[in-house]
Amino acid sequence: MLAIYRKYRPKKIQDIIGQESITTILRNAAIQDKFAHAYLFYGPRGTGKTSMARILAKVINCKKRQTDGEFKKKGEPCGECHTCIQIESGNTLDVIEIDAASNRGIDEIRNLKENIKTMPTQFARKVFIIDEVHMLTTQAFNALLKTLEEPPAHAILILATTEYEKVPATIVSRTQRFHFRKLTLVEIVSALESIIKKENITCEPSALEMIAYLAEGSMRDAQSLLDQIISLQGNHITTAQVELLLGKTDILKIISLSDALITKDEKKALQLLHEIHNEGHNLPQLNRDITEYIRRALALHLNPDLEKLFTRELAQTELTALHKHAHVIDTEYIVKLLKLLIEAQTNMRYNPLPIIPFELALIEATQEK
Ligand SMILES: Nc1ncnc2c1ncn2[C@@H]1O[C@H](COP(=O)(O)OP(=O)(O)OP(=O)(O)O)[C@@H](O)[C@H]1O
Ligand SMILES: [Mg+2]
Ligand SMILES: [Zn+2]
Repeated sequence: MLAIYRKYRPKKIQDIIGQESITTILRNAAIQDKFAHAYLFYGPRGTGKTSMARILAKVINCKKRQTDGEFKKKGEPCGECHTCIQIESGNTLDVIEIDAASNRGIDEIRNLKENIKTMPTQFARKVFIIDEVHMLTTQAFNALLKTLEEPPAHAILILATTEYEKVPATIVSRTQRFHFRKLTLVEIVSALESIIKKENITCEPSALEMIAYLAEGSMRDAQSLLDQIISLQGNHITTAQVELLLGKTDILKIISLSDALITKDEKKALQLLHEIHNEGHNLPQLNRDITEYIRRALALHLNPDLEKLFTRELAQTELTALHKHAHVIDTEYIVKLLKLLIEAQTNMRYNPLPIIPFELALIEATQEK
């Protein structure tokens, strides 16, 4: 295994993809040496929270930044000084990572309360990174709250979580907050492109799009999917391989089948369903993909403004097709079609021949003209 997500973990602020407002604010904080005492990084999985916390620990303490006025203007860690290297390798007592998920943080927060009182041993500031902070017990939150109320000047806390709502408001209000967003499909595809280039791997473009789509905005998920595929397929990746491995059908096929359904072309819909089935695709997944596509076409028909939102998560091929379909939607028919597809999804789960409920739904939907 390559463990791409580790190998390609961002090392500087400039390596963080997306999250522009966050990187701008933190870079400026570094340039002015005005750091908050506590930060809260929240947002969906695999979007850069832990990576950013470690980078921030480096920026705060980087020796070169403290001694080289020209370099300081970059608002970045140098990555080369002794301090940066020690933090990078996790080999220092002054940057402490706490996993609140283990044992729900009871001992960890107790240790933190003691540890935070003493001066840093090597660096200018001690940095405490508390990951999965929402997992803390009420007791641990209370202990943490006391620390946040009067943090010593030599300490900085960075809290990270995927579940913002589970962090008590008293904690939240004492931090500077940053919302990490899902990465867009385009951002993920271009990150994957640069990885495969460095790894000397070739890949059909639509295969990367498919991986990015399945990652649902998480860069880590995209990287580990790519990892899996590389370890199974070697140095050339085709769309067909990704289709089979990930159980996801090529978007062009999804568009054709959706098109047949939207235009009530029963014969064509049945033929496409059988072709796709014969290629060995996962039918429940195909049903979900079609439902999702048609649902988007309907939504776009009812509210064209949604196109902006869809642009974040879909590839151009799909957007163009959706745009076209949104114009020919018969709302009443599409609502019925979606209901039938969803009903078929449930029935497919319990049927030894899942194609039958799927087929019946297509027939029932397209017959009534
Ligand atoms: N914004 C990003 N830019 C570049 N790479 C990223 C970004 N977000 C995530 N990654 C990649 O995904 C991996 C995991 O990222 P990270 O640990 O920072 O995510 P996270 O937001 O802390 O996720 P979780 O909530 O699951 O802990 C990194 O090693 C990196 O390769
Ligand atoms: Mg994390
Ligand atoms: Zn440095």
